[in-house]
Amino acid sequence: MRVFLGVSGASGAAYGGHALRALTRAGCHVGLCVSGAGCQVVSHEILGEGARPVAPRDVVVQRFVDRFADPAGTLEVLDPRDIAASFASGSSLTPAALIAPCSTSTLAKIAHGTGENLIHRAAEVMLKERRRLVLIPRETPLSAIHLENMLTVTRAGAVVLPAMPGLYMLPQRVEDMIDFVVGKALDQIGVPHDLLKRWGEPQAVAT
Ligand SMILES: Cc1cc2nc3c(=O)[nH]c(=O)nc-3n(C[C@H](O)[C@H](O)[C@H](O)COP(=O)(O)O)c2cc1C
Repeated sequence: MRVFLGVSGASGAAYGGHALRALTRAGCHVGLCVSGAGCQVVSHEILGEGARPVAPRDVVVQRFVDRFADPAGTLEVLDPRDIAASFASGSSLTPAALIAPCSTSTLAKIAHGTGENLIHRAAEVMLKERRRLVLIPRETPLSAIHLENMLTVTRAGAVVLPAMPGLYMLPQRVEDMIDFVVGKALDQIGVPHDLLKRWGEPQAVAT
């Protein structure tokens, strides 16, 4: 399955990393696009090198890929300026796009159709083609503008799936909390995974 994965500049780059790992592990063909601000957050939160990376963007993205991508899938690394990429066209049969994390700025551009980069365009394509678009926003507290934009994209067909991990599964590690959110996102686009326990269901036993 082809999936577009946008990583924008909200805190929580690990949501994008865990999504990349789970999608490639499931054998998906992933079009990965990290925004400029997304690169800064990856540098700070994943690479531990601060939010003003010295390394060029390609190096930051490659290190993100090396850390999370699984060889079971295939990957296209896309420049956010490349609005000629296949994912920018509705003629490309990509059934789903995930933006993880989704900044409030990217949310606003999707809500108002004022896209400036490939992430915004790929999201717009999902909405116009009535395909699956899942946004994982991370901000707190939320202003009326954020909330209205979430309602606008929801009315247009997107799924707003905030980075709000449930605690009822008694997570032991931060990674468990990230996987809870990413697992819910993958459920929305129909990609199989074993990222979360399912309430009331027996745990699968590895053979
Ligand atoms: C370290 C860091 C953390 C940030 N955290 C958030 C956040 O949690 N949510 C958010 O909406 N924006 C956050 N921002 C601001 C966005 O990066 C900024 O609005 C940017 O313009 C978003 O651009 P993009 O949507 O093209 O990635 C953060 C920026 C930095 C540098």
